Amino acid sequence: MCAARDPKVAIVTGAARGIGAAVAIRLAQDGCDVAVVDLVKESCEGTVAAVIGAGRRALAVEADVGDEDSARAAVARVADELGRPTVLVNNAGILRDRMLSTMTVADWDAVMGVHLRGAFLFSRELRAHVKVANWGRIVNLSSTSALGNLGQANYSAAKAGLQGFTKTLALELGRFNVTVNAVAPGFIQTEMTRSTAESLGITFEQLRERAVSSIPVGRAGEPQDVANAIAFFVDERSGFVSGQVLYVAGGPRN
Ligand SMILES: NC(=O)c1ccc[n+]([C@@H]2O[C@H](COP(=O)([O-])OP(=O)(O)OC[C@H]3O[C@@H](n4cnc5c(N)ncnc54)[C@H](O)[C@@H]3O)[C@@H](O)[C@H]2O)c1
Repeated sequence: MCAARDPKVAIVTGAARGIGAAVAIRLAQDGCDVAVVDLVKESCEGTVAAVIGAGRRALAVEADVGDEDSARAAVARVADELGRPTVLVNNAGILRDRMLSTMTVADWDAVMGVHLRGAFLFSRELRAHVKVANWGRIVNLSSTSALGNLGQANYSAAKAGLQGFTKTLALELGRFNVTVNAVAPGFIQTEMTRSTAESLGITFEQLRERAVSSIPVGRAGEPQDVANAIAFFVDERSGFVSGQVLYVAGGPRN
């Protein structure tokens, strides 16, 4: 729970929709004020309204997470307008799926830029705040694709990279009472998996059926399944859990 001490200020990137939106709402329900970061300010309106509906303060912040100036300005604005941020969920993500033979440098760089550089830049900006607060939580979005997935050399490299990033930050920031963990979701029903179906030339229902056939609990994941795992890591009482990767995939997958 955020509320156990003073209200916490959380930053959730890519929170306009999907998993990020569910995380923002869940953290608000747990007592955090939430900065809703995404590429276009207007796209954040629904999440902002839901956070306010949960009784917390919210701020829509337009930022490209992979851009250094944008990341710096975003975190500074959150500190000015909501207060010192001490919780960060690095969730923003994109896909540029292609087999190696047709993957371009632009496909590679775009995915690295959002997932890896974005998480690095936002975490670096957060560091000054958690150091002063002597408390903090960072949760990074990895994926079962970190274990390998056809057509995702860029994405799986980024998601595996985020696991290493998580473990190193856990070592570096532990002395400030900061935990750093990762969640690695499997198949979750969002716009991202809808776009995967489209690029494979099949319907979303066909893709979901294919995915569910190999998920032990026999259903697809929902954004709230991931938000629940992230809420555990953010909880004040989870302060002795750091540097971990939790698969949220309806089965082991690791
Ligand atoms: N959906 C899944 O099955 C699944 C599985 C494993 C991991 N993940 C990861 O979870 C995270 C959220 O995925 P989702 O399914 O909700 O995706 P989504 O596409 O529905 O939402 C991603 C959000 O990130 C935002 N975003 C993209 N680039 C950005 C940038 N440069 N700066 C700021 N915002 C940016 C988008 O505008 C969008 O609102 C991603 O990191 C994704 O890789 C998703």
